[in-house]
Amino acid sequence: MSEGIVTAAYISATILFILALGGLSSPETAKRGNLYGISGMALALLATVAGVTANLEILFVGLLAGGSIGLVLAKRVQMTEMPELVAILHSLVGLAAVLVGFANFMDPARLQHYIGVELTIHDVETYFGILIGAVTFSGSVIAFGKLSGKITSKAMLLPARHWINLSLLIGSVWLCKSFVEQSTSGGGVIPLFIMTGIALLFGVHMVMAIGGADMPVVISMLNSYSGWAAAATGFMLSNDLLIVTGALVGSSGAILSYIMCRAMNRKFLSVIAGGFGTKSSGGSSSAEESGQGEVVEVEAAEVASLLVEAKEVMIIPGYGMAVAQAQHIVCEITKTLRAKKVNVRFGIHPVAGRMPGHMNVLLAEARVPYDIVYEMDEINADFPAVDVAVVIGANDIVNPSAQTDPDSPIAGMPVLECWKATTTIVLKRSMATGYAGVQNPLFFKENTRMLFGDAKSSLDIVSKNLG
Ligand code: TAP
Repeated sequence: MSEGIVTAAYISATILFILALGGLSSPETAKRGNLYGISGMALALLATVAGVTANLEILFVGLLAGGSIGLVLAKRVQMTEMPELVAILHSLVGLAAVLVGFANFMDPARLQHYIGVELTIHDVETYFGILIGAVTFSGSVIAFGKLSGKITSKAMLLPARHWINLSLLIGSVWLCKSFVEQSTSGGGVIPLFIMTGIALLFGVHMVMAIGGADMPVVISMLNSYSGWAAAATGFMLSNDLLIVTGALVGSSGAILSYIMCRAMNRKFLSVIAGGFGTKSSGGSSSAEESGQGEVVEVEAAEVASLLVEAKEVMIIPGYGMAVAQAQHIVCEITKTLRAKKVNVRFGIHPVAGRMPGHMNVLLAEARVPYDIVYEMDEINADFPAVDVAVVIGANDIVNPSAQTDPDSPIAGMPVLECWKATTTIVLKRSMATGYAGVQNPLFFKENTRMLFGDAKSSLDIVSKNLG
């Protein structure tokens, strides 16, 4: 295929990726956004394959293997496992950047293609591509472990961790100088290997040091890193499409990290330094231990009458709704209540669930109308006028201690103030803590009623009793 056609295809793919990002910014247009993204990727793949002249069989084996693994994974993955899948996919982008970097460095044609300043620039690109790739790879593997519960979500803090990070950074810069000096004479593999080891360690250390409820920021940050790793690979391969696509993912991930930081009330710099959200008080897991008094239980039938009698209902979904797959019955109940002239709204916390937009996706899947789904900032002031707030499998995002206990690991995180409603119903299976591992004083408040059990089973009974 002529170079002109390949360039035109790359530009069209880039435009489609930009349209995809635009589409994904709102639930109404998300489906269209996905379609743009799929078309852009198909076009990019086609143009790339058409541009290759040698070793086509290796390319097709790779395409077939990667495509089949992707297809099986996407078909098998449960909605609750999506965050882990995303984390492990990020790690593959990082690994690809590392492998492409080494392949590029070991290519004997490198010293013929590039000389003088060009060689130095190419070497620096390779070096940073491998560095970002290795941090993304090991950091994402640890994030996968933390999200899937294979590694404790608690922060692991080494003494003098900031000094360790600083020395790793200085060491990497020094190794870069030594790598560039040696590479002109065909050497440099040792500093490159040492730096890769350092970067892998840094990724592990950075994510292990993040604890409590602060993982959302790390996930979006690793998303951004995976984009920069792809962009660096694009520079190494002189592939414009990879540079642009990587930059799009990198910058949108960075914007998402900023939004997450704001949602968690954290500072971006402390995210990069790692180790925030690490205070360990408030982790008691029973009422007796936390000394917060008695909880009052309620039956599903009683919840149904409270809902029918209410004028204003606010539903707050959390990770437990995803686990129970309760979104469809939630939608049924919403329809019934609205038919009875009850004003039902949904309040969505920016870090509810385990990935950005988790709750919006579930509610959209169940066809809950978008116009009754509100962001936390839009509805938090309305709780005093709410008759019944229904918390479905949420915990950290409705924890009042974020506002009252400065030693809490979630101190300062904005939360949905559902306790200001006349009555708050909390659906969960036990008194277990949420992701951050802190007990929730909401459960012990006078106007809180606990409906214990799997959220879907409990809501099935509520629905049958709505009349
Ligand atoms: P969590 O604080 O994790 O609380 C979820 C609650 O759901 C648990 O207390 C659990 O209690 C309950 N639950 C689990 N399965 C259930 C079921 N089948 N039926 C009923 N209840 C069930 O969730 P949240 O309030 O949504 O907060 C999210 C947390 O995850 C935050 O700390 C956030 O920082 C963190 N996080 C978020 C993200 C993103 S990007 N959203 C990423 C990583 C981490 P029982 O076991 O007693 O049922």
